[in-house]
Amino acid sequence: MSLTLAFDVYGTLIDPSDVIRQLRQWLGPKAEGFYRRWRDKQLEYSFRRGLMGAYVDFSQCTREALAYTCAAEQAPLDAQAQQRLLEAWAHLPAFADSAAGLAQLQGQGAQLYAFSNGCRSAVRALLAQAGLLNFFREIVSVEEVRSFKPAAVVYQHLLTRTQSTADETWLVSSNPFDVLGAAHAGLHSAWIKRTATAVLDPWGIEPDRQVASLLELAEQLPV
Ligand code: LAC
Repeated sequence: MSLTLAFDVYGTLIDPSDVIRQLRQWLGPKAEGFYRRWRDKQLEYSFRRGLMGAYVDFSQCTREALAYTCAAEQAPLDAQAQQRLLEAWAHLPAFADSAAGLAQLQGQGAQLYAFSNGCRSAVRALLAQAGLLNFFREIVSVEEVRSFKPAAVVYQHLLTRTQSTADETWLVSSNPFDVLGAAHAGLHSAWIKRTATAVLDPWGIEPDRQVASLLELAEQLPV
């Protein structure tokens, strides 16, 4: 059986916390806390819009979450600074293990897909500039069903687009809500625990694999 592996992008293959480097010039030691609040708000906005049935491009969630965080933190970021930060999302780097892990998994015969809340064109450009695009057969975006992870419909859409069954499909993600969403939809799931302090929500749903890197995942997946 050939495995279909669908990789989350932001936080799993690509490191959004790289924007902290830019934030430091305006916020100094407050940059990290600001970033965490911004990222949490971005995801909250996607969840809420999914529930409301009010889909927008994920980049709008990112932009509105930045405006919210600036107001809430009373941060000294003018319109130009905010624009620069939003543009930084198109130039984020890959995690150190991403390319080697993807190469290993591809070499083991798995079919690789990128699967993201981001719109297809943005994800394509992001992966290209990070040197990862060529590993993937296709990019599957939630924009095609106008909802967001972890709605069950987006995981069903992944199966439709990849023409694979839930039994042969794995969602690979560092984001606990994504792992639980995929498991709930009947897919296999692998949680990439990218930081020692990351916690999986205690919902009684366990991923099929928990690993610290994509290289470790390659060692553990059935081939
Ligand atoms: C994504 C976000 C959830 O790439 O990280 O889908």
